[in-house]
Amino acid sequence: AKNVGILSMDIYFPPTFVQQEALEAHDGVSKGKYTIGLGQDCLAFCTEVEDVISMSLTVVTSLLEKYKIDPKQIGRLEVGSETVIDKSKSIKTFLMQIFEKCGNTDIEGVDSTNACYGGTAALFNCVNWVESSSWDGRYGIVVCTDSAVYAEGPARPTGGAAAIAMLIGPDAPIAFESKFRGSHMSHAYDFYKPNLASEYPVVDGKLSQTCYLMALDTCYKYFCHKYEKLEGKQFSLSDADYFVFHSPYNKLVQKSFARLVFNDFVRNASSVDDIAKEKLAPFSTLTGDESYQSRDLEKASQQVSKPLYDAKVQPTTLIPKQVGNMYTASLYAAFASLLHNKNSELAGKRVILFSYGSGLTATMFSLRLHEGQYPFSLSNIATVMNVAGKLKSRHEFAPEKFVETMHLMEHRYGAKDFVTSKDCSLLSPGTYYLTEVDSKYRRFYAKK
Ligand code: ACO
Repeated sequence: AKNVGILSMDIYFPPTFVQQEALEAHDGVSKGKYTIGLGQDCLAFCTEVEDVISMSLTVVTSLLEKYKIDPKQIGRLEVGSETVIDKSKSIKTFLMQIFEKCGNTDIEGVDSTNACYGGTAALFNCVNWVESSSWDGRYGIVVCTDSAVYAEGPARPTGGAAAIAMLIGPDAPIAFESKFRGSHMSHAYDFYKPNLASEYPVVDGKLSQTCYLMALDTCYKYFCHKYEKLEGKQFSLSDADYFVFHSPYNKLVQKSFARLVFNDFVRNASSVDDIAKEKLAPFSTLTGDESYQSRDLEKASQQVSKPLYDAKVQPTTLIPKQVGNMYTASLYAAFASLLHNKNSELAGKRVILFSYGSGLTATMFSLRLHEGQYPFSLSNIATVMNVAGKLKSRHEFAPEKFVETMHLMEHRYGAKDFVTSKDCSLLSPGTYYLTEVDSKYRRFYAKK
């Protein structure tokens, strides 16, 4: 199989959201902290009728319908998620309901979990399967589904929720350049979920930022090594057209790209211009640790990277800013933003993605885009995803209502024997929703 990669995609996020500006006022923090400080516009959240299973049922059904894929044509289904609803039964098995009724139970794959990285692990599994001798000629599907919720406090505005489904196969308009890849994995306690009775993570916010940036540097280093070995020339930011980052909040994405510019400067790579060289020169002797602590370096590198950021990163930021951190779906929602914003100009372009999952696991990898053939074309993917339409038809909630929902969800987490309001008035037709969890913890869903 050649040019294996993503043939098509769809995205779903809850229609319910709060404005970050309203949240600032509600939380009593200084004006601008969430909107400018974190760089976020809105935060989407699941109400009591939605969860990671309903969202993934919705997005997989939609993917199959909109691209007219017969469920029998699917041979592998992989899910990435860090939202634990069951410690044994995978989300994938819930999704099998869609395929069983069409007579297809011959589908490999289960769930992958490690914080926000599970979706990337699932994606690599699926791509590897299509490239392998066990491939049976059918398509794979990768699902990333998460509801990111935090306890009250500074991390809460970095929540979000979404599910993404990607169809995997050969001759893809979004093809992997599998040789260009760098990973960094190590043991850290930056963000983890040791309390199985709570949906909320334990998070060391500052440490998680540093872990993210250190992982980025290391992945970039390995990525560049591999590129240089294979291509016989140095890699620099000018060798790719777009950079897509896992996006817990937009400010970290700005800092990440600035960090890559600083890396190019230190490596003396050709993409750094003279003005940038001059501005970054005072920092060339910093040790690694010092460089993560230096506010002046952060400021200078963000300043010199701004024009490149606007060209190569900004088009990827729409959905993460509007929806919030979607954990496993975050990176792919950023990529979906690029398809939405630039679909007619993307043929032939190289896109570099950086996936980060706390704990920690990270990979930088490369995609090459082609226009492709309908229905698997970049322009059709953008049409099907209908990002603008989905954003426009959302319903704003007041912060009080959001907090109330969070309280209710705290009670519902791990609970049994309840029925939901079954109120699906805000959901668009075709959306799955939770109706009941019975006395044996079995979950039931209906479709609007
Ligand atoms: N106007 C403009 N900017 C402001 C304002 C204001 N009124 N107030 C604060 N800011 C800026 C700060 O200067 C800071 O910017 P900087 O980083 O450029 O200095 C930014 O807003 C955030 O303010 P902090 O005081 O640093 O925020 P705090 O420490 O309260 O929380 C944090 C931020 C740590 C990111 C928190 O939201 C968190 O823990 N989030 C979850 C962890 C996370 O997402 N980590 C990322 C990687 S791991 C993962 O993906 C889960």
